[in-house]
Amino acid sequence: MAKRPKFQRPTGMKDILPEEQPYFEKIYRTVDDIARFYGFGKIDTPMVEDSELYERGTGQSTDIVEKQMYTIKTKGGDVLAMRPEFTPGIVRAFNENGMLNLPQPVKLYTYGPLFRYEHPQAGRFRQFNQVDFEVFGEESAAIDAQIIQIFYAFLRDLKFSHLIIEVNSIGDAQCRPYYKKVLVNYLRPRQNSLCADCRRRIRENPLRVLDCKEEKCQRVKAQAPQFLDHLCDSCKTHFKSLLEFLDEIDLPYHLDPYLVRGLDYYTKTVFEIFSESTVEQKEGEETVTRSALVGGGRYDNLVRLLGGKDVPAMGGAAGVERIVALMKEKGFLGAEIPVPKVFLAQLGDLPKKKSLKLLEELRRAKISITESLGRDSLRTQLARADKLEVEYTLILGQREMLDETIVIRKMDTGEQAIVKMDKVVEELRKRLKK
Ligand code: HAM
Repeated sequence: MAKRPKFQRPTGMKDILPEEQPYFEKIYRTVDDIARFYGFGKIDTPMVEDSELYERGTGQSTDIVEKQMYTIKTKGGDVLAMRPEFTPGIVRAFNENGMLNLPQPVKLYTYGPLFRYEHPQAGRFRQFNQVDFEVFGEESAAIDAQIIQIFYAFLRDLKFSHLIIEVNSIGDAQCRPYYKKVLVNYLRPRQNSLCADCRRRIRENPLRVLDCKEEKCQRVKAQAPQFLDHLCDSCKTHFKSLLEFLDEIDLPYHLDPYLVRGLDYYTKTVFEIFSESTVEQKEGEETVTRSALVGGGRYDNLVRLLGGKDVPAMGGAAGVERIVALMKEKGFLGAEIPVPKVFLAQLGDLPKKKSLKLLEELRRAKISITESLGRDSLRTQLARADKLEVEYTLILGQREMLDETIVIRKMDTGEQAIVKMDKVVEELRKRLKK
């Protein structure tokens, strides 16, 4: 067995190698286009923030704060957390930069790495990237529908089909305390059927029980009272209005009465978007797997909770690595990865020097080309050109140098032509256009 190298990447973190980069680039290009169209401005916030920002914002009794935060004590004694999500940092930036004075709504988006000390598994990493959209200063459910629509459009643009949108309302400060009581009254007599974490959650944060993935807790959840039956009038009207907007834009949504999300700041609307794929397992048996690609919701109290004014807000975030994994599995990018169509082969010292100049000329002419400057044998270079499946190889030898010419070889037929060096760009353009 090969010896493992002494240094390895930290558990749950990965290298994004050159062959994976086109997926990330495609995703970020698509996001930039959508954001520009819908009038979102890009914001970048620090990768670390005061850890209290998340304790207050994300919530003291959430898994993120309880179990998953990477905290650092600086030499100066500050306690910082590596950002586990974007939302509290963006709210902090909204308050700190006086964005309340801008015309409302303020629409912001961002993408980049986040850190959660998770139990690593497929689609769950300790460092991962998200694409995040947030809107501040708009109460209407039209914005809730628009955020859902934006994420749906983003995934559709990346060629995803079979998307499932789940929505729910988790009320507000008016109706939630009452629902919590109703839920606790249901859970308490059943606590022996719950996992240890959920038994504790009944006291600390009963809504979290609805979010638990343990099978026995799911069984208890299946009969639990539903939030939708206990919403106050204003939350009910908001939710009804959201569903009307979603119907209007023909988005295929489902109502999941137990969707609560794992973060504390949500009010009213919560949503998730899943991609469904059918995987064939042994003996022709098919199972449907679901991957949660997007999560979000309204958070009308967070701006004030983090020191600002009463500003309603709504947003969501998509997991980039999960999207990349599915794009690869479904072959969504294959044909779009740009491959160079020309290879430059050189023979000897002088041609090698000339090659550097020629490469720069071709770059300026936007002709994508590859080479193997470290190799000297023509046979090895042609073999490499073959492997790369280029259409043409330019061959620059000693004799061509003297004549100021270059050979153009058409790779599929082996046909060769000699052209003047100062005409090579023009000749390639002509041939590649065909
Ligand atoms: P979240 O549900 O924690 O929400 O994360 C959103 C998405 O990020 C998930 O649906 C998933 O695709 C991806 N994700 C989360 N954790 C991991 C992980 N460990 N590894 C890989 N992917 C992961 C939020 O973060 C909220 N800030 C969303 C939001 C924005 N709500 C309002 N505005």
